[in-house]
Amino acid sequence: MSCRYVEEICADILREVEERRISIRGAIEDRAHDSTVRRLRSLILALCLDVVRRYVLLEKIFEHSVGEVPRDIFKRNLARIVTYEVRYRDIRIERLVKICRKHGLKASRRDLARMRETSESELVKDLSYEERLHVLYSVPLWLVRYILRKFIDGEQIIRSFSERLPTYVRCRVSRNVVLKKLKELGIDAKEDPDLDDAVIVDKVKLSLIERTLGNLIYVQDKSSMLIAHIVEKLVDNNVRVVDMCSAPGGKAIHITDRIERAYVTGIDISFRRVLTELSLIYRYDAHSKVDVVCASALRPPLRQYSPHIVIVDPDCTSIGKLSHSPEIRLWLREHHVREMARLQYKILRKACSISGRIIMIYSTCTITFEENEDNIKRICDEHGLELVDLCTLFPKFCNIYMRGSLRLFPHTHRTGGYFIACLRS
Ligand SMILES: C[S@@+](CC[C@H](N)C(=O)[O-])C[C@H]1O[C@@H](n2cnc3c(N)ncnc32)[C@H](O)[C@@H]1O
Repeated sequence: MSCRYVEEICADILREVEERRISIRGAIEDRAHDSTVRRLRSLILALCLDVVRRYVLLEKIFEHSVGEVPRDIFKRNLARIVTYEVRYRDIRIERLVKICRKHGLKASRRDLARMRETSESELVKDLSYEERLHVLYSVPLWLVRYILRKFIDGEQIIRSFSERLPTYVRCRVSRNVVLKKLKELGIDAKEDPDLDDAVIVDKVKLSLIERTLGNLIYVQDKSSMLIAHIVEKLVDNNVRVVDMCSAPGGKAIHITDRIERAYVTGIDISFRRVLTELSLIYRYDAHSKVDVVCASALRPPLRQYSPHIVIVDPDCTSIGKLSHSPEIRLWLREHHVREMARLQYKILRKACSISGRIIMIYSTCTITFEENEDNIKRICDEHGLELVDLCTLFPKFCNIYMRGSLRLFPHTHRTGGYFIACLRS
């Protein structure tokens, strides 16, 4: 299909994102050969992210003003995008009518004008409390219900998924040097109060920072940075680590940055991600301290190996990343929680069978109890492990749902949602 308008390009990207369950950023990269996409990259990314952050609300407005939302995925996304353009950007209605007509969306000038006038409160006035949150914050209904049922501050958590979070940059040289360089670029940045190598930057062009500061920094959420800080506090300067789900290597490289004599063996099942990890290991000069193999953590190629620390940072439902990667909400279903929890538990069990007296650090970027506390409790009970108290190290992030472990939330800590537990045999 030939896409002349940016709205058509975005609808096609979101179609692919939804069908293949890939990230918006990845789908845009896949089209980098297209000069229009290259030229409009920032606009396309911002538009796609904003539309997905409001996808349910936009569909309701379309339904109310025009009629049934199309079933066809491309057209459904075009309907969302046109509705967004009418409501939140000052785009000429004639242009949008023309795009709708080209793709058989029956939206007249009057329909689009009605979209502008539709009030959100009117739209949700007859809905239940849960349905209202589902529409206003565009979070899947099953997830709204889950969060309200399980958390004491559920509404704030749901609301926080629509908020933009700060970007964290990890400094691989003195923090003052990085702050000075950011200032020279005209970027506002400040020291993170909890981690001595982290800097908080607001509303930035990441590509500019990465281009200019190169391997002096690593862009990484603060929650993920905690892992290397925990390792550093738990062991001495000579440590062997196995990282069971290692790619793209953010934590492995951070550990070798902070601990002079740390050696990491990384394992990951994804060949594509292992290649990315390898390129980062070389870029960040960590090749003498990190080895990486492409293998399943369920059959780790480790014979007679006694690490001091095993890190298990497996795939998860990534609900804690809904703000940064809102597209997850398009395909995430309730059964994924159970499926992920099962896989994580199997990897944890495998980690327990690695020889030696080990410390195991488990983390996920999700908030469900099945993938976090329930897995940890089960593995502790079955293998006689005990929780190492991380609250004494980082009291600010202490998890009220499982004493000793940590939980970070977007609404309280301004990071992605994250869980960390540390176990000892
Ligand atoms: C959250 S990411 C890991 C991020 C990584 N620890 C870092 O700090 O950059 C989860 C990883 O688990 C990997 N994975 C999923 N199933 C796996 C398995 N059975 N064995 C090994 N790795 C697996 C995925 O390929 C993915 O790279």
